[in-house]
Formats: sequence, C-alpha cells, structure tokens
Amino acid sequence: MAELLSSTTSLPCIGACFLPSASRKAVTRLALPLLANRRSSSHGLVAASLRPFSAVHPRFCQSAGRRSLSSSSGGAAGARCAASDPAQLKSVREDIRELLRTKFCHPILVRLGWHDSGTYDKNIDEWPQRGGANGSLRYDIELKHAANAGLVNALKLLQPIKEKYTGLSYADLFQLASATSVEEAGGPKIPMKYGRVDVTGPEQCPEEGKLPAAGPPSPAEHLREVFYRMGLNDKEIVALSGAHTLGRSRPERSGWGKPETKYTKDGPGAPGGQSWTVQWLKFDNSYFKDIKERKDEDLLVLPTDAVLFDDPAFKVYAEKYAEDQDAFFKDYAEAHAKLSNLGAKFDPPEGFSIDDEAKAAEPFKAAKYSSGKA
Ligand code: HEM
Repeated sequence: MAELLSSTTSLPCIGACFLPSASRKAVTRLALPLLANRRSSSHGLVAASLRPFSAVHPRFCQSAGRRSLSSSSGGAAGARCAASDPAQLKSVREDIRELLRTKFCHPILVRLGWHDSGTYDKNIDEWPQRGGANGSLRYDIELKHAANAGLVNALKLLQPIKEKYTGLSYADLFQLASATSVEEAGGPKIPMKYGRVDVTGPEQCPEEGKLPAAGPPSPAEHLREVFYRMGLNDKEIVALSGAHTLGRSRPERSGWGKPETKYTKDGPGAPGGQSWTVQWLKFDNSYFKDIKERKDEDLLVLPTDAVLFDDPAFKVYAEKYAEDQDAFFKDYAEAHAKLSNLGAKFDPPEGFSIDDEAKAAEPFKAAKYSSGKA
C-alpha cells in the first residue's frame, strides 16, 4: 500500500530491504550515491536544470522533491533549495484543518508525526541512518513494524494532500499535520520550523524496535532508555506523554485497551477503542488528572502512563501538569517542537517558519470545536 502511495516520489527498493539490518546499513551507505545518480537520470534531473537558489525563489526551488538529493550530494554547485515551499505549506495547513473538521482524525495524525520522528538515535551522526523526522514512515516496510499498527490509515488520509502539492516533503507533511492537530484540538501553539528533507527509498527506513513498548518489565527504565536515546529528558518524557489526552487505544492494533467504552462507542470517526480521557478530541491536562485519580475503569492507563506518578523524578512533572494546565502547555509545546525536529535534515539548514511574526505573538485561542461530540 505505502509502496503504491509513495511510488510517485520514491525509488523502488534495490534489494537491501530484505537483508538483515547490519547488512542493510552497509548497503544503504553504498547505495546512496547510486540512488542520487539514478534519480538524476530517471527523472531527467541534471545539474543544469537546477537554477541558483536566488534565481528561482528566495526559499524554494521548482524541482522540489527531487533537488534535495542534488543539493545534498553536491551535484549542482550554487543550487540551494528548501525541502518544501513555505507558501504551499500554509495552504497545506488549511487543507489539514479542513481534513480535521470533517474526519476528526487529530489523534492518529499526532501519533503519525511522533512515530516518524521517534526513531531518532542521537548516537548516530549520519543522516538518514540516525532515524528521525525524515518521512521514512511512508514506506510499507516501516508501516509494518508492530508499533505502527493502524498508521497506514493516517497516511491514506494525508495522501490526497501530498499529491496536490509539488513543494511538500512527507517529513514536513507529517509534522505539520501533527502540530496542527494539537493546535486545532485546543492545545498550545507549537513553535515549529519546516524544510525537512525526505529519505528516498525504503532501504533508508530504521530498524524495528526503536519506539517505546507500553508494557515493558520496568516501565521507567524503558522510557528513559528509549527517550534518552532520542536526546530527550525526564520533563520531556512526561510532557510528551500528555499527548495521550487525545485518542484511543485499539486492541486489534496495539493489543492494548478495551474494544469499546461508553466514551468511544459512538465515535466520532470509527467507533471503539479505549481512550485515556473522557473528551479524547480535546487537548488539555485531563490525561494527568485522570491517571492520577484512576477512578474510571472506562479510561485507559498503560503501564508507561502509570509510572509517571510512580517514579519520583517523573512524578514531580506529572503532579505539576495535573495542577497547572498552563505549565503543561508551555512544556508540551517546547517538547513537541523538539520531537518534531529529531534527526531531521533541513533545507535550508536553519529551516523556516510558516507563521507570521505578528500572528505567532497572538495569545492562544482554543479551537471552536474541541470535542467531536455535540
Ligand atoms: C511514552 C511512551 C509511549 C507509549 C508506550 C505509547 C503507546 C501508545 C499505544 C499503545 C497507543 C495505542 C495505539 C492503538 O492501539 O491504536 C498509543 C496511541 C497514541 N499515542 Fe502513544 N505512546 C507513547 C508516547 C506517545 C507520545 C510521545 C505521543 C505524542 C507526542 C503519543 C501520541 C499518541 C496518540 C495521539 C495516540 C492515539 C492514536 C489514535 O487515537 O489513533 N504517544 N500510544
């Protein structure tokens, strides 16, 4: 499915995807120059077609989606192009808002962004071997990782938007969709930047097993092992876990949660699953209040949620966020922005914002709809 979805912008697997991971990494290193060459010839993209950055657009080069390879491989001296077009990204954001208004798919889009970036390993320097927000989650091989069960549905929702725009990387689309979903659900404005370059083939996907498990033997140790590998700290682990204020867990996907509860049996969206909060389309601090109280058996508490109030260092933040929504929003916005940048290669290297400075300074206003339930 994803191979099909991505066939217009990606190269076919060159065989490395069937190799064990160690060999796959070695082949990937060897394959990168080959891929660059292949792309140059198969798409007719030659150095001469890449005009200097300033001659095209202050930020964007017309052959978007293809030129990133050329600029990073040094194929076109002087050419420097953004991975996505800032003007188009603003329009993409409007399309995402419309999608949210009709499908109420905020939670799964947040999960999509997190699972693309959460594979990052700070101990690996090379891109894309280090994982992270690079659009690799569009490929079947990664979508089939157990932790990503169900995320093909998020990709299907976004694919028509991807196809509508010429200047949009998957990596930016996933992160823009996630941040917009949090904001539209009533959460904080996230200080995002864009310009993420996409990986170009499934052989560049990370190995399975990079994302956290929900029921490990020692949840606190496990969370620290996984999130520290990403370069995130205790405060960020707790704040980011607060994203479970949105959405549901489905036994047929992750194996966790009830098939349905009084809060999920009528949808919106496909009914069923078990939510962490009563209003699971509203982004607020109720996740922390609810897991602290644990009074309602229709609400989910995973072992990795429960440990936020059991571990002494996590507890300091969990208690604070249960009491003080503003503190949660502030820390969440910072941590989400950091998560969205993990492992990403930006073009231009500093990335760019799509928020007008005046607007970005405006105080946060909750969305008109924060719950799908009337
Ligand atoms: C701390 C470690 C984490 C674990 C163990 C974990 C585990 C899970 C599990 C088991 C599900 C249910 C998936 C399903 O059955 O469809 C889920 C859903 C979800 N997760 Fe996490 N998660 C973690 C962290 C995060 C983070 C950091 C974010 C975002 C910043 C996040 C956002 C979400 C959202 C929004 C959903 C709901 C998806 C939907 O309703 O379709 N999670 N998570």
